[in-house]
Amino acid sequence: MAIKDLLTRRKAPSEKTPPGGGEKAPPPPKKKAFAALDLSFLSKFDLKNLISGRKEVVGLDIGSSSLKLAEILETKEGFVLNRFLHVPLKRGVIVEGVVTDIDGLAEAIKDLFKGSGCQKKGVVTSLSGHSVIVKKAQFPARQEEGELRELIRDEAGKYLPFDSMDEIYFDFQVLGRSGDNPNQNDVMIVAAKRDIVDAYVEAIAAAGLTVVVVDVDTFALETMYERNYEFSEEDVVAVVNIGASITNINVMKGGGSIFTRDFGMGGDVVTEQIQSSYGVSFEEAERMKIFGIEGDEMARQSFRYSLVGFADPVCSEIDRSIDYFRSTYGDMDIKEVLLAGGGALIPGLGDDLSARLRIPTTLVDPFKKIALKGKNIDPEAVMQQGPAAAVAVGLAMRRPGDK
Ligand SMILES: Nc1ncnc2c1ncn2[C@@H]1O[C@H](COP(=O)(O)OP(=O)(O)OP(=O)(O)O)[C@@H](O)[C@H]1O
Ligand SMILES: [Mg+2]
Repeated sequence: MAIKDLLTRRKAPSEKTPPGGGEKAPPPPKKKAFAALDLSFLSKFDLKNLISGRKEVVGLDIGSSSLKLAEILETKEGFVLNRFLHVPLKRGVIVEGVVTDIDGLAEAIKDLFKGSGCQKKGVVTSLSGHSVIVKKAQFPARQEEGELRELIRDEAGKYLPFDSMDEIYFDFQVLGRSGDNPNQNDVMIVAAKRDIVDAYVEAIAAAGLTVVVVDVDTFALETMYERNYEFSEEDVVAVVNIGASITNINVMKGGGSIFTRDFGMGGDVVTEQIQSSYGVSFEEAERMKIFGIEGDEMARQSFRYSLVGFADPVCSEIDRSIDYFRSTYGDMDIKEVLLAGGGALIPGLGDDLSARLRIPTTLVDPFKKIALKGKNIDPEAVMQQGPAAAVAVGLAMRRPGDK
């Protein structure tokens, strides 16, 4: 059963529901599920090569403020970061997880690959925010995968906010027996509108590359965590990725997601507050946020302190989400919050969240088990990007056909 390939798949002719087998209980699902729209069917060229060449993929995180490319090699000594490049993206190309300028995105991706020197053509990328729906539902346990797919297709209207299943890509992962009812399985369904996915695929193709897998940001964070951190089956940890316009929350138990939520707010909120408080342009406010202001030490410090106040709407929403998690999963204590995304670098934000949530909160290190020794890598520069690199690292660690 697919472990890391949630999402999608246009129903290929070969993908028939195998006959019979409906009586047999499915084997217990393997640990960890999810994520990803396996779009291998879309790649007209290189398909075979990509699928068999397990190391031939590059992680491409397409954010609303920047693009990040990560290439990770699996060597005898472990994982090695071979390339990492993070470049700003013109505002307005991606708006809340949707491509609004395909040509602009294609150009930016082309420049990114050129700038990184990366020759690989197979790309693992991801969706985020409202463009992707992740939903947990319950289905009869004694069901074989093909039947379950049909059932989800037929009943999706109950779970997903789409009129017709024809307009979406979807995939699912059986998580295991439902706690409420042993005859039911908890199933995670991931769905995305075709036109939104296709715009990413088109832009990447126009940059001369091929999409191998479309993952979901929140599950890329899971891959990053699973490959870099030590945890026990009972450990409950939340990764919170604060981007520019979207925040992803992924609560995992034993390294597998049990609760996810995205909302449409991130570091931009802080920039906009600086903009209106100081009457400056967005670009200037962005610079002030990242590099601080000029002036005496007191003024600079007080500006720095004000940033966490500006981030209040984001922290409050994270707090609300964790509250919701707590009310739904009352018996589980989150042991630690790991903060990812560029928005996590706001000074004092980790402490603020830690106090609000009453959970120890630290910045994630997506390179914990990845050696920063590729010949194109400047370890210091990469470490500075650390938390913002989390999604790209998770994507780069996906392999086509990971199951
Ligand atoms: N040193 C810093 N201090 C404060 N904020 C920072 C810093 N560096 C980056 N940011 C902020 O982080 C945000 C960008 O983070 P990230 O790269 O994770 O977002 P993205 O992936 O482009 O966006 P999204 O995922 O929301 O579409 C911006 O709001 C940026 O201003
Ligand atoms: Mg992002």
